Amino acid sequence: MALHKVAALSHLPPGAALRVTVEAREIGLFNFKGEILAIKNLCPHMGDQLHKGQVTDAGRVVCPGHAWHFDLKTGACTSGQTDARVRTYPVVIQDNDIYIEV
Ligand code: FES
Repeated sequence: MALHKVAALSHLPPGAALRVTVEAREIGLFNFKGEILAIKNLCPHMGDQLHKGQVTDAGRVVCPGHAWHFDLKTGACTSGQTDARVRTYPVVIQDNDIYIEV
């Protein structure tokens, strides 16, 4: 596991999302109420990009494909096929940059 710098914190204001690629993995980065969270960006249903989804007040991203919900902190699917899950990645903020541990 290593830390990878993926973006400047200024590029991800509250409410925003970004798609980044680290070691050939597509990762969705979200700023949920000031907290930076990282999840696998591809929905386990049919592979839509989760960073394009709306985020609910409860911190769940709604897949733009068929509206399954994924908790940004745990990766758990909370609406849809509820035994599905997306991987989460540890995030570190250093010197106003965002790093992901992969
Ligand atoms: S592709 Fe995400 S819910 Fe279908």
